[in-house]
Amino acid sequence: MTRTQDVGSSQPIVVRQMDFDFPDDIDPVVVAGNPEESYLLIGLSLLLPHLEPYLIRTMKEAKKLVRNEKLIDDLERFSAQEGQHYRQHMRFNDAIRLQGFPELASLEKSLSEDYKRFSKTRSLRFNLAYAEGFEALTTASARFSFERPTDQETLPAVSELFSWHMLEELEHRTVAFDIYDHVCGGYFYRIVAGLYAQWHMSRFIGRVRKYMIEADPAAIERCGGKEGMRARRRAASPELRKKFLPKLLKTYLPSYTPHDIPFEAELQEMATRYSAAAHSTR
Ligand SMILES: [Fe+2]
Ligand SMILES: [Fe+2]
Repeated sequence: MTRTQDVGSSQPIVVRQMDFDFPDDIDPVVVAGNPEESYLLIGLSLLLPHLEPYLIRTMKEAKKLVRNEKLIDDLERFSAQEGQHYRQHMRFNDAIRLQGFPELASLEKSLSEDYKRFSKTRSLRFNLAYAEGFEALTTASARFSFERPTDQETLPAVSELFSWHMLEELEHRTVAFDIYDHVCGGYFYRIVAGLYAQWHMSRFIGRVRKYMIEADPAAIERCGGKEGMRARRRAASPELRKKFLPKLLKTYLPSYTPHDIPFEAELQEMATRYSAAAHSTR
């Protein structure tokens, strides 16, 4: 199915060049008192320099088939934003690697091989549906993270990195959806391949989290041991169930479109703030 009307982002997609710094002696427990959430953020950050270049390669292939100037502009801005994202995450990841955790390298190597294989051997339709699976998940996650009460203390540079990234994910939330629809389309295929994508990414993040928990038992002990972990999981569950899950489940409905998700005034203020903090914007 090819739609040429009502496509394209209504939100400006601003490419900002940022410059985040992370200390060489960074404590991997970047969310104070919460190693498992810290490691989840680290898992996501380690995923991105493999995943986002794959998204860019996919978009480059798709561009050859796009026949709509607004969509081409969106696609180029999407890729430019993703290119900035993974470069900044690499800085954070390099600081984390200085703290040890030698097995992370083999987890990353296997992930990197997966993405190279997908680009080489899977159809453009699969790769675009994978991209939208990631984008739908990050859109739901970004909306949840901005709504969430901020009683947890996160290292400021890490908090800023993720806020900037999540904001830009919301700015370009319609692009992968529109490009998939324009180039190949198909609801069921998008959902099935998108679910696979979400499983594939979550598996990597889960492996990183598990490994880091096992590799540094002292960090867990400092934060209440296994009982502390259970208590934090219990405390987080109602919020995840009530505020995150409905947002994610909606993305699986046939009626879902990221065009219906508003970009509220607070997000616009944040966008202005990050544009002002950027080295350059375009
Ligand atoms: Fe991104
Ligand atoms: Fe994205």
